[in-house]
Amino acid sequence: PSGLLTDRLQRPLRDLRISVTDRCNFRCAYCMPKEVFDKDYAYLPQQSLLTFEEITRLARLFLAHGVRKIRLTGGEPLLRKNLELLVAQLAALRTVDGTPPDLTLTTNGSLLARKARALRDAGLQRVTVSLDALDDTIFRRMNDVDFPVADVLEGIAAAQQAGFENLKVNMVVKRGTNDHEILPMARHFRGTGVTLRFIEYMDVGATNGWRMDEVLPSAELIARLQAELPLVPLAASAPGETAERWGYADASGRHNPALGEVGVISSVTQAFCRDCNRARLSTEGQVFLCLFAHQGWDLRHLLRGGADDTQIAASIASIWQGRSDRYSELRSALPADTSGMGARRVEMSYIGG
Ligand code: GTP
Ligand code: 5AD
Ligand code: SF4
Ligand code: SF4
Repeated sequence: PSGLLTDRLQRPLRDLRISVTDRCNFRCAYCMPKEVFDKDYAYLPQQSLLTFEEITRLARLFLAHGVRKIRLTGGEPLLRKNLELLVAQLAALRTVDGTPPDLTLTTNGSLLARKARALRDAGLQRVTVSLDALDDTIFRRMNDVDFPVADVLEGIAAAQQAGFENLKVNMVVKRGTNDHEILPMARHFRGTGVTLRFIEYMDVGATNGWRMDEVLPSAELIARLQAELPLVPLAASAPGETAERWGYADASGRHNPALGEVGVISSVTQAFCRDCNRARLSTEGQVFLCLFAHQGWDLRHLLRGGADDTQIAASIASIWQGRSDRYSELRSALPADTSGMGARRVEMSYIGG
């Protein structure tokens, strides 16, 4: 029966992350370093991208297997033309409970001011913006294309005006690069209704030259924040959640909801594979069972080879049932400065963050 699908570690399938493009207009060194993603880089040709109809069909079949949350990612998803049309198609789908899926988008915010209204009107429910610094010089250096921070802040404001609530901002923290921006970012978003989340810099992909000494462990980050802005731990709002939540406290030491909360995503120092319920669908229609997977399972040949829904649904089921991935947990058992575990991994811009 649908909804009861579990993998080899008894983890259900709940979250589908769909990459709609492998391109991005930023060149964050931890994700698409300039030296690798230069003008000669071979991006996917148009005909190998899943069409909106193909994506929607797969999404419908994933929902029938128990998925509740759909996140559009990239690359930069807003570079995909007419994305609001895909949003509208996905918003019309239903989970096994008959409810609309939790439909959300991760963006670098550069095109958000222009697109927030259309996305909202199409039925997008939530937005997460990646932002690594408030300081314009540091931000321009981190996106490595000289993009001004003011435009991203304008995108966040436009999203709020368009009616998106519970906005999230994700900040990847690299020690020595932007860790002195932690407090300014926290102060800026405290009490604004935006939840700021700090992400430990991960050894994802094969090109970013990851080093453990550039990771700022979340425990240290929280201690630094605590010293200036009192925090209290909050309970997880959903099983398998990536972020650990901390609420801003007032003088009495209790969480003050008006001040909001922050989150820490500790993929390196505290792996959360045990409850990982996320599947990733790449831009060209391969299913990846882990952010650190070496290979995906191709569904596009089924789509384009005339398979019917029953066959594709069965294929999705058997892929998930065979899943035993738990990369971050395994990697924590290795010596601290070991990056990777052998073979070349896929890039995050390809399978979607
Ligand atoms: P919410 O629904 O808003 O809680 O979103 P989310 O936390 O599921 O998704 P989001 O895209 O905001 O994830 C934030 C970051 O967490 C990603 O950019 C990744 O860096 C990291 N992340 C998300 N999922 C995974 C995962 O399955 N494994 C690992 N190691 N990191 C992940
Ligand atoms: N480590 C941690 N987070 C990363 N992201 C991209 N690359 C990395 C990495 N190496 C995050 C981005 C964005 C999302 C798409 O993935 O900051 O929030
Ligand atoms: Fe683009 Fe996001 Fe990767 Fe930066 S982290 S290069 S904004 S996809
Ligand atoms: Fe899930 Fe893989 Fe991330 Fe672990 S490392 S939480 S299994 S995606």
